[in-house]
Amino acid sequence: MCGLVGCVGSEEAAPVILEGLEKLEYRGYDSTGISILSKERIIGQKAMGQLSILREKLEKEPIYGSTGVGHTRWATHGRPLERNAHPQYDCEQEISVAHNGIIENYLELQEELREKGHIFVSETDTEVIPHLIEEYYEGDLVLAVQKAISKLDGAFALAVIAAKEPGKIIAVRQSSPLIVGLGKGENLVASDIPAILHRTRDVYILEDGEMAEITRESVKVMEFDGTEIKKDVFHVTWDAVAAEKNGYEDFMIKEIFEQPQALRDTLTGKVDRDHLRVTLPEVGVTKDDLRSLKKISIVACGTAYHAGLVGKHIFERLLRIPVEVEVASEYRYRGPMVGPEVLTVVISQSGETADTLGGLRLAKAEGSRILSITNVIGSSAARESHDLLLTMAGPEIAVASTKAYTTQLLCLNLLGIFFAQELQVLSEDRRKALVSELLEVPRLVEKVLTTEAKIKELAEDFRNKENIFFIGRGLDYAVAQEGALKLKEISYIHAEAYAAGELKHGTLALVVEGVPVFALATQPTLYDKMLSNIKEVKARDATVVALVNNGDYEREKSVDYVLYIPKTHPFFTPILSVVPLQLFAYHTAKARGCDVDKPRNLAKSVTVE
Ligand code: G6P
Repeated sequence: MCGLVGCVGSEEAAPVILEGLEKLEYRGYDSTGISILSKERIIGQKAMGQLSILREKLEKEPIYGSTGVGHTRWATHGRPLERNAHPQYDCEQEISVAHNGIIENYLELQEELREKGHIFVSETDTEVIPHLIEEYYEGDLVLAVQKAISKLDGAFALAVIAAKEPGKIIAVRQSSPLIVGLGKGENLVASDIPAILHRTRDVYILEDGEMAEITRESVKVMEFDGTEIKKDVFHVTWDAVAAEKNGYEDFMIKEIFEQPQALRDTLTGKVDRDHLRVTLPEVGVTKDDLRSLKKISIVACGTAYHAGLVGKHIFERLLRIPVEVEVASEYRYRGPMVGPEVLTVVISQSGETADTLGGLRLAKAEGSRILSITNVIGSSAARESHDLLLTMAGPEIAVASTKAYTTQLLCLNLLGIFFAQELQVLSEDRRKALVSELLEVPRLVEKVLTTEAKIKELAEDFRNKENIFFIGRGLDYAVAQEGALKLKEISYIHAEAYAAGELKHGTLALVVEGVPVFALATQPTLYDKMLSNIKEVKARDATVVALVNNGDYEREKSVDYVLYIPKTHPFFTPILSVVPLQLFAYHTAKARGCDVDKPRNLAKSVTVE
């Protein structure tokens, strides 16, 4: 996730753009850049790190001009370096593009353009766009942009300026958000509303497949084929802080609702949709590497550890390779059996958790290959690993992790299928069925999110409880552990998860009349066993909330509440079943008046032991 801002008016553009970018830093901030049209030339400046560094550079060497675009980057393709920062240019620096999204077919486009003599200076996917526009430019920027975008696969929100057409910005939206701000004597473009609130409250919200030709006096919105569209003006009434949360009350609920998009972004570039195969360009583990493995060790902390528990089930079932999962603070001090015959999978949203890095370094020193699943490309975990799998969740701000977890689960599934492809242990039919079901998951998460009102009511009923139990078997047990963690960390209710079959060995003593028990029963092979466990707790007069697959309406008769999720392959159910538990934790915490984004005693990234 990145942020872009463009402005065309009569005042100096640079300060307006910088102020807008400041409001978008929550979208990422590993490098920044700006391009200004100055006397029919494009002059740019870039900086590593936060926006303040770019600001200082511009104070020393100002760039004057009233049209420009700027960008704050959250690196995906290409490390956070100045040359990879946006805007990116064509060969002559006459076309400048700020981009948010991923161009999936950039490698083939790059090759075609190189053959025609274009020179590339960055490692980004974005750089093909200005070169394509340069290739097609024949005196009409709109036309050249239209031709260029017809070549692109993937997600892109763009702001384009050209030296030969001063006083103009072309904005394009395809699967990445973009808005146009309608100012007085100026117009703007930005990834998100907070970036333009210092100039105007009237906006056009562009939809996928729409583009705009923006000048100081006018905004023409059209489809990609040029057909003009009449847009309604959206008047923003939120204050600046609320706007950053996009109208949501807290970052946590915003991030819960961002999950479908985060999952879509994570899938982008990792699946060959024509052949229904998983393609992971940054994972170099080969068939021979996999054949020589004695074990896979997953090392992580907190929610990332819970994702690892799900990963163990998937890997063992698909690959028949033993998998151990361990919290990093235990792993690193127990003298683990690790060496070249072990693949170490490190999971960390931030890529900076001290214990996780400790585990990574220990395993690496023993000769183990390290594959990291992280959300931050420039993080220590990403830099110190042999292989990298990025969750494309965008910055996660709430302390309680939500969209990072579900995108980690998605990556673990992608990795499992990828390894199975390498080892040739999946038939073509089975692989295709799995991949096509996986592509449906973002849409199914959207469906689960529509049940929020019902979950909010449930949270109202349970807000004064002191203990809540979560039970499940197999993958449901792994999700139960994440559900209990979410609840305790933000609502301060004591919550514990148990393997449902283990209840009778002690915990059942705590289950008495009115004690809430969430029973997860989404796994078909374990369903009958779960029903027996539900009966066990019902017999002690527990208040039971069953979380089951759609269609299991019989459950209504035997429990107190039922939550449904859409049916999918059992490997993917955790991505759906955790969502009601996240919503339950959120609404329970809100009902109890807790600060959900900043729970007491906790930190987003624990960089100390
Ligand atoms: C902290 C956060 C959790 C997170 C854990 C691991 O405890 O509050 O949400 O799961 O650290 O963080 P990481 O960045 O390594 O995933």
